[in-house]
Amino acid sequence: MADAAEFLDAGERLDGQALRALQLERLRASLRHAYDHVPFYRESFDKAGVHPDDCRSLADLARFPFTTKADLRENYPYGMFAVPRDRIRRIHASSGTTGRPTVVGYTDGDLSLWSDMVARSLRAAGARPGDTVHVAYGYGLFTGGLGAHYGAERLGCTVVPASGGMTARQVQLIQDLKPRVIMVTPSYMLTILDEFERQGVDPRGTSLEVGVFGAEPWTEQMRREIEERFAIDAVDIYGLSEVIGPGVAQECVETKDGLHVWEDHFYPEVVDPITGEVLPDGEQGELVFTSLTKEAMPVIRYRTRDLTRLLPGTARVFRRMEKVTGRSDDMVILRGVNLFPTQIEEIVLRTPGVAPHFQLRLTREGRLDALTVRAEARPDATPEDREAAVRSIAAAVKDGIGVSVSVEVVEPESLERSVGKIRRIVDLRSNNKQ
Ligand code: DLL
Repeated sequence: MADAAEFLDAGERLDGQALRALQLERLRASLRHAYDHVPFYRESFDKAGVHPDDCRSLADLARFPFTTKADLRENYPYGMFAVPRDRIRRIHASSGTTGRPTVVGYTDGDLSLWSDMVARSLRAAGARPGDTVHVAYGYGLFTGGLGAHYGAERLGCTVVPASGGMTARQVQLIQDLKPRVIMVTPSYMLTILDEFERQGVDPRGTSLEVGVFGAEPWTEQMRREIEERFAIDAVDIYGLSEVIGPGVAQECVETKDGLHVWEDHFYPEVVDPITGEVLPDGEQGELVFTSLTKEAMPVIRYRTRDLTRLLPGTARVFRRMEKVTGRSDDMVILRGVNLFPTQIEEIVLRTPGVAPHFQLRLTREGRLDALTVRAEARPDATPEDREAAVRSIAAAVKDGIGVSVSVEVVEPESLERSVGKIRRIVDLRSNNKQ
């Protein structure tokens, strides 16, 4: 995109050295803010024998203790807040599937930062002021809808706050209001695609040019599928409520080579998930974030459980994170082999005869866990095509991942459709961990 450079904001124009100096200054302030105003951080730093003044270089951050989701849960609802309650302007909560939700809070300043980061993300995705942006992330406690919404407004776009669900209406709004940009989970985009086809409307013929997809892992194969079926550019947006919401990292449309982390505000580390040791850039591990400028709820070394690696910047000065492979919680261990739903996605999406809809069923046979991949047949697939797909998926999993699974090719439209974050794994083991 020829005009990208003139749209960079001040943070994106820093050179590497200035960026590191700014990060260190902000890091020291953020550690101090957390230590001075959140009893949890004071206790955990004291227990680890570190003080904010001990942070003299970015590498010193490794001396500070981690913060986990369990820590946030134990301090539910407001224990992690670092400002008086009357400065909290908004609450969101993370989509916890078990136990208490994780509540997060924002000051006016945090909301403004968040809008700036989503606006920056949208620019990197190729959106421009004046564009119409269709937001089909869910609105509510989930950060997707409102985060996308205010960021698009901040950029100077017209927002269509469609939220998730009522898929027939999504198709109508896209046809009538002619958005250039759509923001939605990739799995819900596939549900919208089905609806276009059901209505006999050509999805390649819409006004859409850019899709900004995130909130769940998705693969290069899924990018290709969505780009081809809709004739759009599909880019990845990453974020999590505990850090701020969407807009922590974003893929640039001109390179589509992983997500630039907005590390002037969110400092990333990748650590060994078992030992917690910081890994050098380029090595795969668990992503950890420290907020550098947040007021209401600073997070220090927050363990995301997302697996990725850090790579040097390309289209921006900031480091990139590779597309997330999955969360450590979503990893299935099958007879000693680690398997992520994204690995199955890659295989299903390159198999002829099946649609891009699949589900993983975990069962227990005797003392062993077993996995069944259920993929939907394409409507035009013959019985022979389905048979071939079963054999091909089973062989690809065996050869590529190294484990045997059962495969079922099921009727078109028979698997549950996503309206937001998709649940890939259905755990039917009697003593499941849910
Ligand atoms: O999902 C924020 C978000 C909304 C991001 C819209 C992007 C778009 P949470 O509900 O707190 O926040 O869930 C955060 O979702 O730790 C990842 O496991 C996963 N996730 C988010 N974005 C991506 C992505 C929002 N691009 C959790 N790729 C994170 C893979 C993602 N996983």
